[in-house]
Parts: sequence; structure tokens; C-alpha cells
Amino acid sequence: MKILILEDAAAAAERAAEIIAAQVTAKPGSVLGLATGGTMEAVYERLIALHRAGSASFAGASSFNLDEYVGLAGDHPCSYRRYMAEKLFDQIDIAPGAAHLPMGEAADPEAEAARYEAAIVAAGDIDLQLLGLGLNGHIGFNEPTSSLTSITRLKTLERSTREANSRYFPDGDEPPRLAITMGIGTIMRAREVLLVATGAAKARAVAQVIEGPVSARWPGSVLQMHRHATLVLDRAAASELELIDYYLDVHPE
Ligand code: GLP
Repeated sequence: MKILILEDAAAAAERAAEIIAAQVTAKPGSVLGLATGGTMEAVYERLIALHRAGSASFAGASSFNLDEYVGLAGDHPCSYRRYMAEKLFDQIDIAPGAAHLPMGEAADPEAEAARYEAAIVAAGDIDLQLLGLGLNGHIGFNEPTSSLTSITRLKTLERSTREANSRYFPDGDEPPRLAITMGIGTIMRAREVLLVATGAAKARAVAQVIEGPVSARWPGSVLQMHRHATLVLDRAAASELELIDYYLDVHPE
């Protein structure tokens, strides 16, 4: 794992955006794996800025998002499709129809999960998968005890995940209990993964993922088994790492 520790959340977002921009520049037909959540908002802001500056084009790229809530139509204000449209897709040049998310409103969510997995395989799998990190160590919506070889399927969300995400649901509405998520095996097939975690609240999960045992208890720890995993952290998220001096020594910037 390549562990990059940046001074603050803004610097971490900038670095992550630069890595994504470099990917689509090196391979314009890249298949990107995209994520949602608060951490990604800053990453997408920086990516849009790079696009506007002429440093990143998505015209030849396609994308697959990690997950979507079951029961929310794509035009629901709290759906991840809406999040992605507002925070990224409507502000870059990705082709209409090239940006994929699971359909949360599908009548048969299990069949939709299978269709989504097949679509990723048909696209040749993902070149660069962007990941956030849940407080409980989840990647995508792969909650603790998810099979480390799972593929796209339905998952029941943990209470802590629903509480953390309830800020996106106004008027006391609660996030759905179920989501369709890429599996851990799906994510591990990506040729490169880029995890971004910022803020002190993530420090425990970050330490478990990087320095703990590989375990379904902390699903992100599976990245220890990936050949090309980059983890971009800020100082606060890195604060519980035992070997922090070593990581800073290897990548002093
Ligand atoms: C959500 C998403 C994850 C994301 C995580 C972290 O539950 N499904 O893909 O990585 O939360 O979110 P945040 O950046 O808001 O902490």
C-alpha cells in the first residue's frame, strides 16, 4: 500500500483529484469507479476545477459508482445518482449514458445487482476505483462481516452507517435499510484503488485498515491484499497509525 499523508483535508482532496486526472489523461478511455459521501465532495470540487483548467477530460471515460440505496429512484433528492449528477457529472464532460449507478428503484433489486456486476465485467472491469471509508471500516456499502470475495449484491446497512448518512436526509427521514453495493471482490478486481479518508473521526478505522489484520471486521483491510492501492489521508485521519513516521519518511510530501 502506498500511504500518502497530507497536511489537511483540502490537500488530501487535491492530491486525490490529481491522481484521477492523471488516470484519464494517461488513458482517455478509462473505466472509473466512483464513490459518494462527504469526503468525496471536496475531491469532486477539485476535479471539476482541474477539468475547467483543461487538465482533465472525461469525454472518453466511463464510470461505475459503488452503490445506491434500495428503493430510491434516480431523481430522488437523496439518491446517489442525484448526488453524482449535482456534484460531478453535470459539471464535467463525461458522455451521457457513460456514467453508471445501480438502479435503486428496480423492481427486483437482486436481479439489478447481478445486472450491474455483469455490466462491470463487460466493461473490462475498473481501471481506477475511488473509495471512501466508513467509520466501521466499510468500503462501498460492504459492512463488517462482508465476504472478502463478494460481488455486487444487497447489503443491510449498520445503524452507525445510517446515522452517519442521515445528514443527507432532511425532515427526519432515515436512510433506507438496504443498499445495492459492488462487492469487495468486485472492488479488488480494479487495476488500481484510491482510498481517501480525512478527519479525526476516521482515525480508528484507518489504523485498523492499514495496520490491523486483514479481516471482514474492518472490510477496508482487504486492500492490504491489493497490488496497487494508494491511501490518501490527512494528518487527523493518520493520527492513530503506529508507523506514521515510516510512511512520512517514504513519501515525505
Ligand atoms: C457512505 C458511502 C461510502 C463512503 C462512506 C464515507 O456510506 N456508501 O462509499 O465511502 O459513506 O462517507 P463520508 O465521506 O461521508 O464519511
